Amino acid sequence: MCGIVGIVGKAPVAERLVDALRRLEYRGYDSAGVATIHDGLMERRRAEGKLFNLERVLAAEPLPGTIGIAHTRWATHGVPNETNAHPHFVDGVAIVHNGIIENFSELRDEMSAEGAIFVSQTDTEVVAHLLAKYLRDGMDNHQAMLATLNRVTGAYALVVMFKDDPDTLMCARSGPPLAIGHGQGEMFLGSDAIALAPFTNRITYLVDGDCAVMTSRGVEITDFSGKPVSRQMQISQAAALMVDKGNHRHFMEKEIYEQPEIISHALSHYVDFSTGTVKVQGEAIDFSKVTSLAISACGTAYLSGLVGKYWFERYARLPVEIDVASEFRYREMPLSKTQAALFISQSGETADTLASLRYCKQEGLPIGAVVNVRESTIAREADAVFPILAGPEIGVASTKAFTCQLAVLAALAIQAGRARGTLSAEQEKEMVCHLIEMPRIMSSVLNLVQPQVESLSRELSRFKDVLYLGRGTSYPLALEGALKLKEISYIHAEGYAAGELKHGPIALIDENMPVIVIAPHDRFFEKTVSNMQEVAARGGRIIFITDEKGAAASRLETMATIVLPNVDEVISPMIYALPIQLLAYHTAVFMGTDVDQPRNLAKSVTVE
Ligand code: G6P
Repeated sequence: MCGIVGIVGKAPVAERLVDALRRLEYRGYDSAGVATIHDGLMERRRAEGKLFNLERVLAAEPLPGTIGIAHTRWATHGVPNETNAHPHFVDGVAIVHNGIIENFSELRDEMSAEGAIFVSQTDTEVVAHLLAKYLRDGMDNHQAMLATLNRVTGAYALVVMFKDDPDTLMCARSGPPLAIGHGQGEMFLGSDAIALAPFTNRITYLVDGDCAVMTSRGVEITDFSGKPVSRQMQISQAAALMVDKGNHRHFMEKEIYEQPEIISHALSHYVDFSTGTVKVQGEAIDFSKVTSLAISACGTAYLSGLVGKYWFERYARLPVEIDVASEFRYREMPLSKTQAALFISQSGETADTLASLRYCKQEGLPIGAVVNVRESTIAREADAVFPILAGPEIGVASTKAFTCQLAVLAALAIQAGRARGTLSAEQEKEMVCHLIEMPRIMSSVLNLVQPQVESLSRELSRFKDVLYLGRGTSYPLALEGALKLKEISYIHAEGYAAGELKHGPIALIDENMPVIVIAPHDRFFEKTVSNMQEVAARGGRIIFITDEKGAAASRLETMATIVLPNVDEVISPMIYALPIQLLAYHTAVFMGTDVDQPRNLAKSVTVE
């Protein structure tokens, strides 16, 4: 992860670099730093923790200069303190880095043996030493850059500034993304186009194996051997996507509340409201011909894929193999060209998901990508892109991207069902009608449950452990509920398939561990209620999330029952996601945690 940015221009850069870092904070916020060159001096300011600490340092000791690089860090090698913060300086070289240098300890030993003194614990510093060594050996800056790139292995995006050349930045990509922005007499670079949005919308994306030399006049791109390559410039939509919190306390709250409107917008791209049919573009995947579907993703995106598995199997009779991307890519599972692969990613940059995509591509499978960021690497490398159209999601805990992923997966499953003849036109129409109704129901649910969930959250914030249970598509929701709660409130939470309760977690049940049961009155309801009985019989406290029918049918005493409207099974995951998100959100607010930027997490995970 980490966010990197650079400007080579004609006006002072420090303030603009920090402004760009603010839009990259989703990539990490353990420390931040900026370096510039002015009057032949290369200087830096760094600070541990959030960006405002760096701003304070810069206010006290401003940095002049019209060329600079900056970094916001998500720690991999070395604790998040000022010494380990980027930029790293060695002799006349300054460097910022996103990713991991895999052979860093071998290089560090080699450099140390030659007398290099390391001041940080980072893998990045070794790159600066290597560059400095090649410069001492007599290479020019570009030669030294290429020689370095040919020595380091791993996944990285690097930006280098040389003290003796105050009109040039060099950067390289081998994994994590890098976008070059073209200005008027100025050039920019950043981890994504949103970082550069206030400066320019003319963007060139580097691809893996590219090394760029950027001056205020333009950019020249080569491969790591120095052979020129040509990359197109495109007009980025990122500027249109700039966001603020509006009247909300946190981005997460805003993103929860904008779901009805956003899903409605997303659905209009996948559903024909007048004919009651789905209209999915993506000829690269012919669902009528594929024998099975491999789905892979990480975090919340994986959990939306897990719901998708239930839908593809039930509605399209299409077998689905699904795994978290970090396992998927190393399982060496046999794949055949008759299968298709689907990758789900909000950012479109998650390293493990991308690696799984490339594995399937190499095996000759048609690749579909369900992504939010359309200019992302995963979107660019897929054969068919299914955008979720959620708009920028800033809160680290995913909310609206989850429900939009679900909406798109529902449309895809219906499309697959029609293509495979397992859904009739009437069934399609009926399901589409439910999807069309969904934004309105979401809106009323948000208003309906908010006061109850808020007061319940106050109680929940007193507990140390929470268990979530569900069956069918409510099982992935139980996992998502537990994930949401633990990531932002730091309360330990586990999600389980309700039927698995008696195979272990039941041993934990007592009055100190609330059990949140997600059970709409569907095919599984009776069975889930039996599991609730097992909890109640052991003195467990139950928070029951159900619908009107379910509340009427259950006689159990609960700590709280959250009653949602009765809805069709095809939309229930999107509806039940709402109280789950609100519960995690309000609990975190009561706990006083940093809701939008919880500790140790980052939104875009570009390391394995
Ligand atoms: C991180 C984020 C999660 C996200 C996961 C996958 O862990 O904190 O919210 O679900 O990465 O990210 P992606 O961008 O691939 O959906």
